[in-house]
Amino acid sequence: MPAPWTIGMFQTAGLMGAWQLAENTSTDFLDLQHWVDMARSLDAAGVDFLFFADDYGYPLVDGRLPDQALRGGISFPRADPMVILPALAAVTERLGLVVTLSTTVERPPVVARKLATLDHLTKGRIGWNIVTGAGQNASARLFGEPLIPHDERYAVADDHVALTLKLWEDCWDEGGLVVDRANNLLADPERVREIAHDGPHFRAEGILTTPPGPQRTPALFQAGASAPGRELAAKYAEGVFIAAEVPAMRAQIADIRRRAEANGRDPFSIRCLIAGTFVVAETENEAWALRRRAESVRTLADAAVQYAFFTGLDLSQMDPDKPLDPRAALTETGRTNVERFLGPDAPTVREILEEFQSNSVMGSPLIGDPMQIVDQAEAVMATTGADGFLVQPDAFGTFDGFVNLILPEMRRRGLVQEAVAGSTLRERLTGHPHLAADHPGAARRSASAVPA
Ligand SMILES: Cc1cc2nc3c(=O)[nH]c(=O)nc-3n(C[C@H](O)[C@H](O)[C@H](O)COP(=O)(O)O)c2cc1C
Repeated sequence: MPAPWTIGMFQTAGLMGAWQLAENTSTDFLDLQHWVDMARSLDAAGVDFLFFADDYGYPLVDGRLPDQALRGGISFPRADPMVILPALAAVTERLGLVVTLSTTVERPPVVARKLATLDHLTKGRIGWNIVTGAGQNASARLFGEPLIPHDERYAVADDHVALTLKLWEDCWDEGGLVVDRANNLLADPERVREIAHDGPHFRAEGILTTPPGPQRTPALFQAGASAPGRELAAKYAEGVFIAAEVPAMRAQIADIRRRAEANGRDPFSIRCLIAGTFVVAETENEAWALRRRAESVRTLADAAVQYAFFTGLDLSQMDPDKPLDPRAALTETGRTNVERFLGPDAPTVREILEEFQSNSVMGSPLIGDPMQIVDQAEAVMATTGADGFLVQPDAFGTFDGFVNLILPEMRRRGLVQEAVAGSTLRERLTGHPHLAADHPGAARRSASAVPA
């Protein structure tokens, strides 16, 4: 019997779905109660985790934020999910909480300390989505730094994760924090040590002052499907977020598993999660009506701005009747959404815009009544070899349709399990409390310790 599917829910701390629709609640993203209510309802629903995507970047066209991004609310504006998370930890008991921190923007000890703290506050329910950054052109400009070329960003990411893992895995042995009042012993000097790292991009000597949480290293996720992105996933990730059409996802998953094996890891220790859009209603007709409403508010101009955010490319300046110039794949912003539109059956620029108008970076939605949707979901899983879904919010920015209509049917068919209070996010994903023995983080443990 195959393992149950992992079910995560996708958000950014910003607008979601079709914000123009009266029922959409995502315009409350600056109200803490909005997030508290969402987290509580997902905790009650027993899904595995809530994930916050994030980026300091925003759409940049001709070196500036286009008016259309402001008018249409395209990847703009946004709050910081890290600041929201502790409030959600306080009101949930079993919901995993996964957050993006970019290896291009955040330095390793900062990532290690924040997430170690959150691992304690959530009792082991925190996950890190490792990215090099989608809107990296705008982000670099905001930080006053040169844009690091695409592949070099992934080399930085690799070195970043290597160091961050040392900080989590090597500084503190189990039982290092003693808190023995009678013997005046807070932490055991024998069990706390400095790490040293002298990598191509990061140097460090020292100790992470935050003791490890229940998971020690938070559950590790990755998103970004260019070749170096898949390599990063194969080396470090325990969960990967994938978004494309079904044949492309099948190829990407197979490639990630192949690369994992080449890295000496069990290829099936990586949970490949499909970013899925579910348009559901009691009847198929109602579901299609919902879909048409959501599509009606999104323009081709919105699509062009969104494409610029992910790729740095301005489709509105290109010949709509021709495919992308293959040199577009050399963009130094994100590459996933360039590469997916190249090749022998490459669509025209107009078709790419239409695709982005309908589905943005996600593949085609599953549309129908609950039975139809779960039938389609089973077919997608069987074809792609994926392990679960990262559920996109609906047109209203919520997960109500998924939770109330789809999840019960998935449970009835024995496809998903309810999360259990007390288990960590990693235990739910992989069945193990800590990094698997074949993970480079576990393998490095103590090897990097500075001898006494
Ligand atoms: C479901 C999903 C979630 C993602 N979340 C983020 C995110 O939070 N931040 C980010 O910069 N990129 C995120 N990405 C990846 C970007 O789309 C982009 O591909 C990547 O950051 C740039 O890497 P690439 O050149 O490998 O495409 C996500 C992708 C998917 C499919």
